[in-house]
Amino acid sequence: MGKLLVIGDLHGNTGHALALLREAKQRGCDRIFALGDFGAWEHMASGRRYFDVVNKAARKEGLLVYFLDGNHDKSSLLHELYDDKPDDEGFLMCRSHLRYAPRGHRWTWEDTRFAAFGGAYSVDKQRRLIWEAHRADKVAERRKYGSTRTRDTAGTLWFPEEEMTDAELDALLAADSSPVDILFTHDKPRDSHPDFNRKKHPACLPNQERIQRVVDTLRPAVMFHGHLHYRYTDQLWREDGEGTRVEGLAADPEVSSRPDYHRDDSWYVLSLPYSGAGEGVPLAAS
Ligand SMILES: [Fe+2]
Ligand SMILES: [Fe+2]
Repeated sequence: MGKLLVIGDLHGNTGHALALLREAKQRGCDRIFALGDFGAWEHMASGRRYFDVVNKAARKEGLLVYFLDGNHDKSSLLHELYDDKPDDEGFLMCRSHLRYAPRGHRWTWEDTRFAAFGGAYSVDKQRRLIWEAHRADKVAERRKYGSTRTRDTAGTLWFPEEEMTDAELDALLAADSSPVDILFTHDKPRDSHPDFNRKKHPACLPNQERIQRVVDTLRPAVMFHGHLHYRYTDQLWREDGEGTRVEGLAADPEVSSRPDYHRDDSWYVLSLPYSGAGEGVPLAAS
């Protein structure tokens, strides 16, 4: 029986990533799955270095690291760079031990059926666009004084592809609507009710609605998501009496101002094959 460490948002935090790689190793996991806002910023040198460091550590520990995209990952560049580098299971190989699960990707590990659906709306979109405009002004200013440097600023802090469109989701569900056991997403579904950071801004709701559609269609026994930076468990019920357990995971400590934050809230051990009972580690239990 294998074990998988499911982890919340990393935001390119190398220290936290390396700590969770050690956690995975200590707990006998051979794989890690990250729920988006991973730190896929390969348009920047620091982002490429981060991928290299995580990959090197994963290789050293004998782990494979998988991730889906969050709103703060530049997924368009992942496709541009790695669409022609799929592994045997259809993940895109960003590095030897670092692999991206594109939206709608499905796979089976140890008789357990999985699907991943990334993307979400950024509540700080306007702030990011202002920063990008400020950077563009600076580049233009320097050019006035003779600088020949050109630098793209659009799409460096806010990524237009951050959420699925309805048409994209329609196509993904039309291609395959068969059920899964475990669903990984970045965003929360419409019907889960965490008591903190529920992202009630109206602009957040369409994507939560899309994730709810994924849940209602694929009918997973359990789903894991990030994005809220908050650890909670909820249960969704369907009319037929079946349900989906929702596990929201916390993020890296840098983005958490909550006094009750605990690093152990940012990961969860999933034993495979999934049996539906006793597979996890309770909240902040270790
Ligand atoms: Fe995040
Ligand atoms: Fe996010």
